[in-house]
Amino acid sequence: MEEIGFVLVLLLRAAWLAGTLPILITVIPSSRFNSLHECLLGFAKRGKILQSSSNKFTVPQKFFSHFYVLAVVWTTLLLVTTWFYAYKEAPLASGPLQYSTIVSYLTGGSNILSFHKSHLSTVKYRYRVWQSVFLLLLMEVQALRRLCETIYVFKYSPSARMHIFGYLTGLFFYTAAPLSLCCTVAPEVFTFAVNQVAEFIVKGKNQIPATEFDWWQFVGPLMKLKWYSWIGMAIFLGGWIHQRHCHAILGSLRENLEQADDYVIPYGDWFEYVSSPHYLAEIVIYGGLVVASGGADLTIWLLFGFVVANLVLAAAETHRWYLRKFDNYPKHRFAIIPFVY
Ligand SMILES: NC(=O)c1ccc[n+]([C@@H]2O[C@H](COP(=O)([O-])OP(=O)(O)OC[C@H]3O[C@@H](n4cnc5c(N)ncnc54)[C@H](OP(=O)(O)O)[C@@H]3O)[C@@H](O)[C@H]2O)c1
Repeated sequence: MEEIGFVLVLLLRAAWLAGTLPILITVIPSSRFNSLHECLLGFAKRGKILQSSSNKFTVPQKFFSHFYVLAVVWTTLLLVTTWFYAYKEAPLASGPLQYSTIVSYLTGGSNILSFHKSHLSTVKYRYRVWQSVFLLLLMEVQALRRLCETIYVFKYSPSARMHIFGYLTGLFFYTAAPLSLCCTVAPEVFTFAVNQVAEFIVKGKNQIPATEFDWWQFVGPLMKLKWYSWIGMAIFLGGWIHQRHCHAILGSLRENLEQADDYVIPYGDWFEYVSSPHYLAEIVIYGGLVVASGGADLTIWLLFGFVVANLVLAAAETHRWYLRKFDNYPKHRFAIIPFVY
């Protein structure tokens, strides 16, 4: 099982690096990378910045909703199974054995250190399981809101398209991102889920002994998470609220327009500082996940790196498009990072 976990983590890290490195290379100021830059932009373009007479290799931009249907289904599945695994197999009970063990270990007063070390690592492992539940909960909150927005808030223009490569990247992203948040415990969770289903099939519903469901054991351990998880959640919520607001502004822009595919200059909220505040908010949201994870998981850092690289690339192009399209575009606005870029 450990080997499967190792391979999964390795594959996820390789995938995030493979998505980020080409974008980083195009930042190097050398004409040698111009064609790579153009190629990446071609793949990443969508909506207003993809203006082409040919619809070859493109799909409607409203297919964005597919990403969030996938994200909601997949994240819910991971969340429910990880949460039940945490409840059944990794309770964070504050039993006397655990406390005495930790105190004894910390004070160095034990002569059976190896036992204590393994027990302490079990406590650590349990924290990691509950932390994964917490991160998946945040991801679920984000995916649900985005799904509602693609259906009820955004008014995609009939002519807006995205490159098929961007579409496939989006589907990959919403498969790999939730998995990255729980990859260190995913193999154990998977085995647990398979065993539960097998037991259910073999024994049948009536043969499985009914155990009392303890609500406090189900949610209480989340309250025991470390301080950084709560700071991460606060950062996440800050980004979440601003993104919701910026998306509402974008969704309202076409209310008084005659053409369903016209564009206007957005104002309000973080639009006063940057051209793509919804991308900036997305970066804050994923930054919140990094902080909530404790910042010690390289896979989550690499996921964050990919989000930053991908959105900075799209924001730079969006900013250039606004400057070209509107003569009266506010000169003080930056592309994505206020007062910096
Ligand atoms: N995590 C990631 O890696 C990742 C990657 C991509 C996107 N996202 C997130 O997904 C969200 C949506 O991204 P997106 O690229 O689809 O955003 P977008 O291109 O700005 O489009 C969002 C909606 O607003 C409309 N719109 C945009 N600017 C407008 C203007 N000036 N006037 C009138 N309508 C306008 C678009 O119309 P059209 O239909 O005409 O385009 C579309 O319906 C963002 O919050 C982003 O952060 C995340």
